Amino acid sequence: MLETAKRIAVLTGAGISAESGIPTFRGAGGLWKNFRPEELATPEAFERDPATVWEWYLWRRELIAKAEPNRGHRALAELEERTPDFALITQNVDALHDRAGSRRILKVHGDIWTNRCQRCARETETLSGERPPRCGCGGFLRPGVVWFGEELPRAVWQEAERAAGRAEVMLVVGTSAQVYPAAGLVPYARQNGAMVIEINLEPTAVSNSVDLHLWGPSGEILPQII
Ligand code: OAD
Repeated sequence: MLETAKRIAVLTGAGISAESGIPTFRGAGGLWKNFRPEELATPEAFERDPATVWEWYLWRRELIAKAEPNRGHRALAELEERTPDFALITQNVDALHDRAGSRRILKVHGDIWTNRCQRCARETETLSGERPPRCGCGGFLRPGVVWFGEELPRAVWQEAERAAGRAEVMLVVGTSAQVYPAAGLVPYARQNGAMVIEINLEPTAVSNSVDLHLWGPSGEILPQII
């Protein structure tokens, strides 16, 4: 199927970056074991304590800056090269797919390396030394990621739905498939005729509704099948 499919969609989650040394959210060693999402990854948390939220994202940026893309990321970039209609839908904000050479990346949860003003929504690259830094308009800058309770970037999400809806094959890699609407792309692709292949260390919320499982680390399995 992977050899002949002209339309392939991939959905990735934190698990694909685990072998690069970036902690996942759930499961053993997951970020949400040590931190409470509602204290760090919601608009209310940023309202209440912008400095702590900003510091937490700075800490994650430091972790990510030290990491390198792994063989799983690179295999997906290779698959894109030979697939006429390819979309890589990722829930990850780490930009390791970009660094591995993937091009058509739909970042449904944003990108941790971007900064957006909480007040005027303008994106900016230069940061003042404050924590959090301020935008020219006086508002606080925040990381350009999607927090719990926030809408996904509309145009990106629409593209992701379209790609999932027309795919002949969908690979679901390293996601616990517990966070919606992203997880909903898996049954959506299948209902629209895709063969869905899940790659994970263990069963997930969507394992019962996929066509094929490949259990193991994505950094090993993806290079093997691609
Ligand atoms: P999770 O942390 O929920 O799930 C990670 C998944 O990766 C689990 O199913 C693991 O079994 C699997 N896994 C771990 N190491 C792996 C490896 N080497 N190879 C293959 N699989 C492996 O991460 P996500 O599903 O990405 O949202 O979480 C979804 C969203 O929840 C995130 O985007 C984030 C978080 O809160 C926001 O920030 C909005």
